[in-house]
Amino acid sequence: MEYLPRTQSQEKPRPTATAHQQRGEEKSPPSSAELTAPSPQANPQLEAVRAEMGDCKRCPLWKERKTLVFGEGNPWARLMFVGEAPGREEDLQGRPFVGQAGKLLDQFLQTIGLSREDVYIANILKCRPPGNRTPQPQEIEQCFPFLLKQTQAIKPRIICCLGGVAAQTLMGQRVAITRLRGQFIPWRWGIELFLTFHPACLLRNPGQKKNIK
Ligand code: URA
Repeated sequence: MEYLPRTQSQEKPRPTATAHQQRGEEKSPPSSAELTAPSPQANPQLEAVRAEMGDCKRCPLWKERKTLVFGEGNPWARLMFVGEAPGREEDLQGRPFVGQAGKLLDQFLQTIGLSREDVYIANILKCRPPGNRTPQPQEIEQCFPFLLKQTQAIKPRIICCLGGVAAQTLMGQRVAITRLRGQFIPWRWGIELFLTFHPACLLRNPGQKKNIK
């Protein structure tokens, strides 16, 4: 359970079958038109979350970071992506998914008729773990509440979890991406989770690229 934050307040999501699944129907994914967000006017609630984070020193990752990578995109996005943590390039630029994995994410967005301006992209951790190591539970415990607040502010319809750390943290339980990948899972606040492989995993295993959706 190494990824799981230990916050008591986190409600357990219910990865139960949706009505469609119970009827044995395949739920058709929303169209890109449905996922295109309204104009990106400021979202004061989201800005308040950023202000609350400030120059965060809640966990030791601040010591080695160049930049805190809060997240970016349409503050009213209907589709939100959540990855693991910033890598080297993200740390330097202060933007999520701008390295090799980000290029693959951009290509994926293009194939579904969306751009980065339509969606919101964030990570479980806002600061780069040294050497891109896996986030530690205490780091997630400190940082995850801010992702939850971002989510509450943005109110997306769907959160696409990129990889195991995002999926396990948001679901609050161990998950097998290979089993749940491609399904819409009711989560909280009317939001559905959609689990898929992390783009970095697809870079390591190009044969899996056909399975990103
Ligand atoms: N990998 C992630 O999980 N997030 C990023 O922002 C970049 C790479």
